Amino acid sequence: MKNIAIFASGSGSNFENLINNKELNKYANIEFLICDKKEAYVLERAKKINIKSYLVDFTKFNNKKDFENKILELVKNIDFIVLAGYMRIISSYFIENFRGKIINIHPSLLPKYKGINSIKRAYNDKEEYIGVSIHYVNEEIDAGKILAQDKFKVDYSKNLDEITQQVHELEHKLYPKTLVKLFEGE
Ligand code: GRF
Repeated sequence: MKNIAIFASGSGSNFENLINNKELNKYANIEFLICDKKEAYVLERAKKINIKSYLVDFTKFNNKKDFENKILELVKNIDFIVLAGYMRIISSYFIENFRGKIINIHPSLLPKYKGINSIKRAYNDKEEYIGVSIHYVNEEIDAGKILAQDKFKVDYSKNLDEITQQVHELEHKLYPKTLVKLFEGE
């Protein structure tokens, strides 16, 4: 069994989906959520589904190192950190402490469309396929080794919101499946 912490900053649909995944729960104890934004909806979700959460509010710290040290203290017994819409760049100092143990999901077919607004940019570029990637986190943004990808052919009669929804559905399938495979093999 792996001890997992999920980091999120936003809505938390991936967080909730991972918590509810029965197969993943056979291999992982999802211990708690760490959230860096007090207004994030993911905190409500955690409360509703009874998962312990820590709000580590970035604005309350003097600098990034203090903020990350607080988080490092919380995750000292954690085996893997799973990012699910965590919107903050993780420093090399932090990564050094968790080398190969931080996983992220990104809504594009990496290496294309790193960074923000990936779905919108791919949609506006009329990409034939849009997809998602699960990857290890290293010092370069959205550039760590890819664990899994999946994609669908874009139907351009659908608007951006509909395509975004389709991306989320794909994420909700691929993320638990990929984590199960990873933890199973550990
Ligand atoms: C997802 O699209 C994920 O790929 C990206 O941030 C989004 C988070 O969505 N990293 P949610 O908060 O899980 O609903």
